[in-house]
Amino acid sequence: MARASESWSSPLGFVLAAAGSAVGLGNLWGFAYRAFQGGGGAFVVLYLVIVLVVCLPVLVAEMVLGRSTGHAPLIAPVTAGGRRWAPLGLLFLAAAIGILAFYAVLMGWTGRTLLHALLVGLPADMAASESFFALISSSGGGAVLGLLVSLALTGAVVAAGVRGGIERLSRWGMPALFLLLLGLLIWAAFLPGAGAGYHQFLLRWDPAKLLDPTTIRNAFTQAFFSIGTGIGAILAYAAYLNRRSALAIEAVSVVGMDTAVGLMAGCVTFPLVASFGLGEVVSGSTVGTLFIALPTGLASLGMAGRLVAVLFFGLAYIAAITSSVSLLEVPVSSLIDGLGWRRREAVWSCVGLVGVLGLPPALNTAALEVMDALFGGVLLILGGLLVALLLSWQAPARFLADLQGCATPPGLRRALLLSLRWISVPAIAVGLGVSVLDLAKMWLG
Ligand code: PHE
Repeated sequence: MARASESWSSPLGFVLAAAGSAVGLGNLWGFAYRAFQGGGGAFVVLYLVIVLVVCLPVLVAEMVLGRSTGHAPLIAPVTAGGRRWAPLGLLFLAAAIGILAFYAVLMGWTGRTLLHALLVGLPADMAASESFFALISSSGGGAVLGLLVSLALTGAVVAAGVRGGIERLSRWGMPALFLLLLGLLIWAAFLPGAGAGYHQFLLRWDPAKLLDPTTIRNAFTQAFFSIGTGIGAILAYAAYLNRRSALAIEAVSVVGMDTAVGLMAGCVTFPLVASFGLGEVVSGSTVGTLFIALPTGLASLGMAGRLVAVLFFGLAYIAAITSSVSLLEVPVSSLIDGLGWRRREAVWSCVGLVGVLGLPPALNTAALEVMDALFGGVLLILGGLLVALLLSWQAPARFLADLQGCATPPGLRRALLLSLRWISVPAIAVGLGVSVLDLAKMWLG
C-alpha cells in the first residue's frame, strides 16, 4: 500500500516545512519558561548536548522511518518492525493529539496577545502586566474561543494539503520570524540590566545543577519538544519525500535553525525580565514568561513598541501554525493511509476531537502544565526512545540502506547508527527515568 500521492515541491520545501514544525511556541515560549524554572547555564548546556548528541540521530531515524516505508505514523512502525511495533503507532497518535490539545490553547494566548497589542495597547508596569496575563490566559470563554479559532486555522491549512498549505506557509514565515528576532535581540542587549538578565537565567554556572532531576527533565523535555521528534510529525512529513534528498544534512539544518531560534528567544526574554523587574510577576506563573516579559518590555518604546509587539506575536502565531499543522498531520495522514479516509473528513474529525480535549487546558492553567509534562514530556521522550530502538536494534539494515540510497558517506552512516544505539538509547532511557521520577515526586510527594 504505497501512498505518495502527495509530495514536496523540492527538498528545500521539505526542510522548510520540517523547520516550520520544529520552530514554534516551544522555542519562543517553552525555552524561556523552562529556563526560568532554574538550572541556569547547566540547563542550557544539558539542552545543547541532548539536542546534538541524542536528538539529532533520533531525528534522522524518524525521517528514515517515514521515507523508507512511505507510510503514515500509525502504520510505519509495523512496516519497519513487524506487528509487535503496532503500539508505537498508537503512541504517536496519542502524543500528537494530546500535545495539539494544549498547544492550540497556547496559540489562543498568542492570538489574544496580538489582538490586545493591536486594539488596546501594552501593559505599562508590573501591576498592569499581571492583569494583562490574567486576561489573556484565564478568562474561560475567550480562551476556548482562542483554542477553537486556532484549531480551525490549523485544520484549514492541513485540509489544503501538503504542498498548497503546509509548504507555502513555511516558506516566508520562517525567515521573517528569524529577522525580527535578530532585531529584538540587538535591542534587548542594550537595555540597562541586560547583562544581569543573561547572567541570572542563562549563564549562571552551578555544576550541581547538572544532576538536578528537574533541570534534567526540563532539558530533555525542551530538546525533544522543540525539535519535535519522537511523535511521528517529522515521520509524516518524510513520507512525502523522495529517495534522493540527503537526510543527514537536512536534519542538521533543521536542528541548527531550531536551536538558534530557541537561544535567540531566551536572549530576548531574560534581559527584559531583569531590566523591567518582572521576576516576581513571572514566577507567579512561569508558563507566562514570554507573554508577560515581552509586551511589558515593549511598552516602554511607546507606539514603536506596540508595532513590534504586533509583528512579533503575529509571526509567533504563524510559527505556531507551521508546528500545529505537523501535529495534526500525524492523525490525519494515519486515517488517510490506514483507513482510506478522505483528507477533509480526516481533518475535521480530528479537529473536533482535539477541540474537546483542549477544553481542560483552556479553562485551567494547571491542567495545561500537566498535559505539557505528560504529553510534551514523558510520551514524547518515550516515543523518541522507541524510534531509536526500532531503527538501531530492530531494523538497522533499513536505516543503513535508506541512508546509502541518498549517498550518505559510509563513515557517517555507521557513526549515526552507533550513536543511535550506544548514546541515544541509553541516554534517553536515563532521561525518561529521571523525568518520570521527578514528576512523580512533584505530584505525589
Ligand atoms: N516543535 C514545536 C515547537 O517548538 C512543537 C512540536 C512538538 C511540533 C512535537 C511537532 C511535534 O513549538
